[in-house]
Amino acid sequence: TSLKPFNTFGIEAKAQSFCNINSIKDLSIVLKEHHSNPLFILGGGSNMLLTKDIEALVLHINLKGIEVVSETENTVIVKAMAGENWHNFVLWCLQHNYGGIENLSLIPGNIGTAPIQNIGAYGVELKDVFLSCEAMNIKDQSLKTFNKSDCNFGYRESIFKQDLKGQYIITSVNLELTKTNHQLHTDYGVIRNELEANGIKAPTIQDISNAVIAIRQSKLPDPKEIGNSGSFFKNPIISTEDFIKLEQNFPDIPSYKISDTAVKVPAGWLIEKAGFKGKRFKDYGVHNKQALVLVNYGNAAGKDILELAQLIQSTIQRLFNISIETEVNII
Ligand code: EPU
Repeated sequence: TSLKPFNTFGIEAKAQSFCNINSIKDLSIVLKEHHSNPLFILGGGSNMLLTKDIEALVLHINLKGIEVVSETENTVIVKAMAGENWHNFVLWCLQHNYGGIENLSLIPGNIGTAPIQNIGAYGVELKDVFLSCEAMNIKDQSLKTFNKSDCNFGYRESIFKQDLKGQYIITSVNLELTKTNHQLHTDYGVIRNELEANGIKAPTIQDISNAVIAIRQSKLPDPKEIGNSGSFFKNPIISTEDFIKLEQNFPDIPSYKISDTAVKVPAGWLIEKAGFKGKRFKDYGVHNKQALVLVNYGNAAGKDILELAQLIQSTIQRLFNISIETEVNII
């Protein structure tokens, strides 16, 4: 089976074997038989770079369904199955006027992968609305509930990428959202500017979603048109001491304070400064509107994009003495 339609980078790679998982029961039956064979768990395929064929049984998690679990006058708990598309779920919440994830509009990928890397954008992270998730233990097929504190969420991090890597498959996620008194997150200047440009003074959650969609569409390529996996690198966190030294050479370097001793620096700025923004090599390159995004113009090989990523990493290391880590999983 070709995996090209199953990864947003649009990279050609073959799966040794492939199985669609349409129910929890399917999942437990397949795992019972195959848990000791090499497995590859595929969700929305939006955060991976395939650099070779997959010598494993690919399980495509296609569990569907969205339901209200419980509600009070002001809040609602919604359960979404792992195979639901994230953005469709955001739209469903907006239709019901459930607030909390409007800033996370248009993030590619599925519900089940959202907790793994604690997706985030424009001042909101999944953990802000996350209540719990259910996951199946690959070895014994038992289902376990993970509460927020169990997940060790951090910046694009969770226990599912660390201690529990390869041990569980997330089957559903429960989020706690607001029905009234929505907490709007308009602290990002770009959002305020977008609202202002549209003459919106008292924004609703739908207005915020519209603003985020407009901003993302202006900077991030649509994977249906140009293959990509969103931000390819994480924004590095460096010591305030190192930052002050860098600022002497690069007075316009942006930063966000993390603590009294550390700042986060936008990797996109570093990559642009290093001259890579908009660079195209054959069928792949660096997006021209957002340097943090690597793109496949059609038929690039995963290896090509990986080599470009490594060139970017070594250049950033040399110019700024900063090491940047990939955000995308390299397979
Ligand atoms: N910048 C440049 N040149 C570029 C890109 C960015 O100079 O080519 C500068 C911008 O001027 C700005 C700063 O870098 O001062 C930050 O840029 P932006 O606000 O676009 O956000 P980002 O740091 O590039 C992060 C997330 C995105 C998320 C946005 C908005 C990471 C790795 N990325 O990007 O998440 O949508 O903030 O909150 O944290 C993703 O994870 O796939 C993703 C798209």
